[in-house]
Amino acid sequence: MELQRLRPDHEAAVLDFERANRAYFAESISDRGDAFYENFAERYRATLAEQEAGTGFFHVLIGEHSAVMGRFNLYDVVDGTAEVGYRVAQQVSGRGVATSGLRSMCRIARDEYGLKTLWATASNENVASQRVLVKAGFVVIGSVAVAGRQGARFELALGESP
Ligand SMILES: CC(C)(COP(=O)(O)OP(=O)(O)OC[C@H]1O[C@@H](n2cnc3c(N)ncnc32)[C@H](O)[C@@H]1OP(=O)(O)O)[C@@H](O)C(=O)NCCC(=O)NCCS
Repeated sequence: MELQRLRPDHEAAVLDFERANRAYFAESISDRGDAFYENFAERYRATLAEQEAGTGFFHVLIGEHSAVMGRFNLYDVVDGTAEVGYRVAQQVSGRGVATSGLRSMCRIARDEYGLKTLWATASNENVASQRVLVKAGFVVIGSVAVAGRQGARFELALGESP
């Protein structure tokens, strides 16, 4: 599997991924709502525009037959910092895919985008997500509400390139 920067031609595969895993994702994070799927083309263009503007960097993990197996995103990019978000297909869950994808994105964040600090938030019920953050080197810096539930705020300080 290969982590690629989001491009216009990934659109159909991203929508397939979001549709196929909608119920699975909704078990642990807020559902995106029907409007997300109904206005997908428009949303996708806005995401690419954000990337052009440098306020977000979006990535897809590409598997066999160019299928999207995961998404790894950096958003709210400001002053060398960004928020992290990710989601991985149910069919490959529990195999370390999120961990390796997140580690790769953190390297890219440091080496290609020059970011210094990454932040993430995960609810305490989302044990898998918190575990993935810890395995990628993030540390807890506080507690925070996530969609009305108790959660933790994580930080990763990106060191200098070797
Ligand atoms: C969270 C998510 C990205 C994990 O993806 P994944 O590829 O299965 O993750 P990995 O295999 O890399 O690691 C999962 C870790 O969580 C652990 N884990 C999973 N479910 C667990 C549970 N219920 N209790 C304890 N540990 C659990 C696994 O054992 C593994 O840790 P280990 O390597 O120490 O054994 C995926 O489930 C997902 O996309 N969920 C929906 C979206 C989401 O929650 N995104 C994060 C928002 S903060």
